[in-house]
Amino acid sequence: MALTPWLRVPIDRLLVARLRRELRGSPVPAHLGLIMDGNRRWARSVGVDDVRFGHRAGAEHLDRVLGWCASAGIGAVSVYVLSVDNITKRDDAQMAFLFHLLETVIPERVRRPGGAWELHIAGNLDLVPDATARALKKAVAATRGRPRRLTLAVGYDPYGDVADAVRQVLWEAHDRGDSLDDIVQTLEPEMVDARVAAPDDDIDLIIRTSGERRLSGFFPWRSVRSELIFCDIYWPGFRELDLLRALRTYARRRTGTLGR
Ligand code: IPE
Ligand code: IPE
Ligand code: MG
Repeated sequence: MALTPWLRVPIDRLLVARLRRELRGSPVPAHLGLIMDGNRRWARSVGVDDVRFGHRAGAEHLDRVLGWCASAGIGAVSVYVLSVDNITKRDDAQMAFLFHLLETVIPERVRRPGGAWELHIAGNLDLVPDATARALKKAVAATRGRPRRLTLAVGYDPYGDVADAVRQVLWEAHDRGDSLDDIVQTLEPEMVDARVAAPDDDIDLIIRTSGERRLSGFFPWRSVRSELIFCDIYWPGFRELDLLRALRTYARRRTGTLGR
């Protein structure tokens, strides 16, 4: 049932407070993956045809969601911001604006003094304009040593990530003078595991917004055992309530009280 907007806010607040209580002591994903999808559809759903409105709202919203993740006790978050496919297939004007957001809104907010998130980038920064890459690298340096880990997939190529990791293992073996026979005999998944771009650990739970039910190449090596939750809400409309509901589903799955 759709609630009138003035009723929705206080009711959401009550539900959030109740869910926070309910979740006390439940298993929380140590590492959460977010596929922030649905920005253009969100803009259209609120009557704005200019997709930039949706993309700006989506970039600004990330900061809010990260705050909710920190209060829920999540220590690592990985976010799908831009795939290689996005960069190569979307038109230039749209990409220019997305790069602008990646150069301004996202690093500015992540870098803010007192912030909790140590920024990491997974992906090929050669695919983004120099100024964007510089702003992201500066934010990575400025946030070093912070307690929570935030990995943004930017220009991320899932096949390339795994192929590069294998290539690295092979080069290292070659440099040691190992024969092809040695390499084939000794190649273990752990060697690839230590060399995939980032993040460092398996993702416990992936949430994708906007109703699409696919991963679109989101960290394949790290998502082999992830729980998946697909949420119909467009990313800029994703509320703390939606996050906590996803965490409740995750806790129920992990404790065997749902679907097992
Ligand atoms: C997600 O929003 C953000 C990016 C992939 C850059 P979209 O731009 O994919 O918006 P929708 O999914 O078409 O609504
Ligand atoms: C890919 O976005 C995932 C991100 C949100 C970056 P799309 O909205 O382009 O998804 P696909 O490529 O259609 O799966
Ligand atoms: Mg999309």
